[in-house]
Amino acid sequence: MDRLRIDGGVPLTGDITISGAKNAALPLMAAGLVTDGTLTLGNVPHLVDTASMEVLLRNHGMDVIRDGETVSIGGTVTNFDAPYDLVRKMRASILVLGPLLARYGQARVSLPGGCAIGTRPVDLHIRAMQAFGAIVELADGYIQARAPSGLTGGRVVFPMVSVGATENALIAASLAKGESEIVNAAREPEIIDLAECLIAMGAKISGHGTDTIMVEGVDRLGDATHQVIPDRIEAGTFAMAAAITGGELTLHKARPRHLDALFDVLKSAGVSVTDNGDAIQVSGNGQVTSTDITTDPFPGFPTDLQAQFMALMCLAEGSSRISETVFENRFMHVPELVRMGADIQVDGGVAMVRGRPSLTPAPVMATDLRASVSLVLAALATKGTSEVSRIYHLDRGYSDLETKLGSCGARMERVGD
Ligand code: UD1
Repeated sequence: MDRLRIDGGVPLTGDITISGAKNAALPLMAAGLVTDGTLTLGNVPHLVDTASMEVLLRNHGMDVIRDGETVSIGGTVTNFDAPYDLVRKMRASILVLGPLLARYGQARVSLPGGCAIGTRPVDLHIRAMQAFGAIVELADGYIQARAPSGLTGGRVVFPMVSVGATENALIAASLAKGESEIVNAAREPEIIDLAECLIAMGAKISGHGTDTIMVEGVDRLGDATHQVIPDRIEAGTFAMAAAITGGELTLHKARPRHLDALFDVLKSAGVSVTDNGDAIQVSGNGQVTSTDITTDPFPGFPTDLQAQFMALMCLAEGSSRISETVFENRFMHVPELVRMGADIQVDGGVAMVRGRPSLTPAPVMATDLRASVSLVLAALATKGTSEVSRIYHLDRGYSDLETKLGSCGARMERVGD
């Protein structure tokens, strides 16, 4: 199993171009299942997760062609099963449920099971399909769903905000008969990106980006070409890499409006963030001050940046209160940061972080995607050599991490056992 050996303590300086967003690319690729022409997606990042989605779409019988950052999806579904072996590798596989049901009236998708950051149930996805008239059964570890005469538009009221369930509902409603209303919908930029792509394919959607999305179903969705938005989580991670190493990074292709919550917090922590129009410049000018955060659905502080922010707070002046409200078990990075000398106390969904002047190098273990990168950030800020093991998590969500950070002065290399 590969590890990352990081010789830290060097301020990172330079330019990084942000890749396409993993969390936008995955639902967009799933939307390829509903076109009766070809969906051509540009700016699709090279990641283990996007490769897994390609495999899943091919498993359903679709033709998927990747050429650089462009992925074209066409053809017809011949197999309605998303098997456990594929779904367990990537929880976002659940995103094929809505498209398969809407276009073909049937789907059999393995239950994803538990996951490192909480139980992550799929009840909201199922609720949405039922609201559109699907008959759903859970049997043998699978969600078996049918809508022999097609889906019918309906009103879905989500009791809590779910990005994935909103995406499944949106794609399904686009081909359901009549009007649908999705209430308490997620407002993430990735939802807007998906809605815009579906509209380009012929869907009739309004209200995306607000908490109520209206959809008027259409009979067919056709060809479209769409560019995946830049990855706000990758951009936010690199912004914190600049802050934690006291360096200066210029982030190209990032969209500052997608990162308002992070940038507001970074600015109050004393980090300089400047939007130059074309790029965002982030400089860690010396000592960072402790700041409290609470994670929330967009436009709140993203849960996917909580671990990285915690790493930054481990080296800040003062105490920071970090509340995680989106996932119930997303502090797996805490014991690893503590191994590097961090002072963190966890009580339920709240972590109290007392900043220290420095951390100490240590071997640490990655537990999930964002937890792993928080350990990379901590190691980059720490003089001496640290090793982060189980870095296969990183490859699910960060494209060319070593190359991108290496070009800005990071001393990191991948080593095998
Ligand atoms: C997506 C992102 C993930 C991010 C998360 C929250 C993708 C591929 N992944 O995940 O990186 O951390 O949004 O911003 O886009 N829930 C239920 N029942 C359900 C579905 C969700 O109770 O049926 C709960 C979850 O357990 C969690 C909360 O809702 O506590 C939010 O999860 P959700 O927004 O659905 O996350 P994902 O779409 O899986």
